[in-house]
Amino acid sequence: MVPKFYKLSNGFKIPSIALGTYDIPRSQTVEIVYEGIKCGYRHFDTAVLYGNEKEVGDGITKWLNEDPENHKREEIFYTTKLWNSQNGYKKAKAAIQQCLNEVSSLKYIDLLLIHSPLEGPKLRLETWRAMQEAVDEGLVKSIGVSNYGKKHIDELLNWPELKYKPVVNQIEISPWIMRQELADYCKSKGLVVEAFAPLCHGYKMTNPDLLKVCKEVDHNPGQVLIRWSLQHGYLPLPKTKTVKRLEGNLAAYEFELSDEQMKILDHPDAYEPTDWECTDAP
Ligand SMILES: NC(=O)c1ccc[n+]([C@@H]2O[C@H](COP(=O)([O-])OP(=O)(O)OC[C@H]3O[C@@H](n4cnc5c(N)ncnc54)[C@H](OP(=O)(O)O)[C@@H]3O)[C@@H](O)[C@H]2O)c1
Repeated sequence: MVPKFYKLSNGFKIPSIALGTYDIPRSQTVEIVYEGIKCGYRHFDTAVLYGNEKEVGDGITKWLNEDPENHKREEIFYTTKLWNSQNGYKKAKAAIQQCLNEVSSLKYIDLLLIHSPLEGPKLRLETWRAMQEAVDEGLVKSIGVSNYGKKHIDELLNWPELKYKPVVNQIEISPWIMRQELADYCKSKGLVVEAFAPLCHGYKMTNPDLLKVCKEVDHNPGQVLIRWSLQHGYLPLPKTKTVKRLEGNLAAYEFELSDEQMKILDHPDAYEPTDWECTDAP
């Protein structure tokens, strides 16, 4: 059994699969998010960079307004991320307010991440100060990091002004980029590991090891990759802009991979990022 929710270190619950929304065209985002909620997604991952925060919020709001008695805001978990150019105290303060303005009917942001460590130590920590204030002001419930390496996590955890610890680190993880050491370190410090690009952007769908396991468990490659992530204790963020794939990807909750099948999928020595790499940034 894998849990449908994880508990964050600050006590909030977070649904263990999120719908990724990178690269979903704005014109399709409202529908995909709304259809996603109807088939069971409760967690949505966007970012200032993706340009679709408003549409993600509109999709959620469409569902909330449809049946206000039964569709409650607290059931939904909304994540967004500050972009690199918004790092620094003043810029981050303004950007957080703007993030909330984009989804004003949601009233608050469940989780706000710093998208990457690329802007350097001074701006990273200044940004964190603004993010901590956003928690105190009630704009944001939880704060976390993305693409952080061990060094960046230590920098933050050892910062004398730390008031709220990061609750997640969102990094690329798949069987071909396992980052076992970093993932274990995050968990040891109480951070939930969110796995981005859990479907390897679609590049590995015909990999023989993957297809062997798919045949054994009678599930498709997307479902097996999502399940692999869950069984490692991660929070995968599969993205699709295809309505008919939404429900299928959630079926990752419904079957199990044996230890042997997990081992067939694990490629601990592979290093095949499909996206940017900045966990080693200065
Ligand atoms: N923090 C960061 O720096 C960062 C970086 C990258 C991504 N992310 C987050 O992580 C999410 C996921 O990553 P990603 O979007 O880059 O890649 P991904 O989820 O690994 O892969 C998405 C691709 O897989 C396809 N797909 C979806 N379900 C499938 C299925 N069942 N069978 C076959 N193909 C399937 C999608 O096609 P269709 O859409 O055409 O169906 C799309 O081309 C993003 O959307 C974003 O929220 C964060």
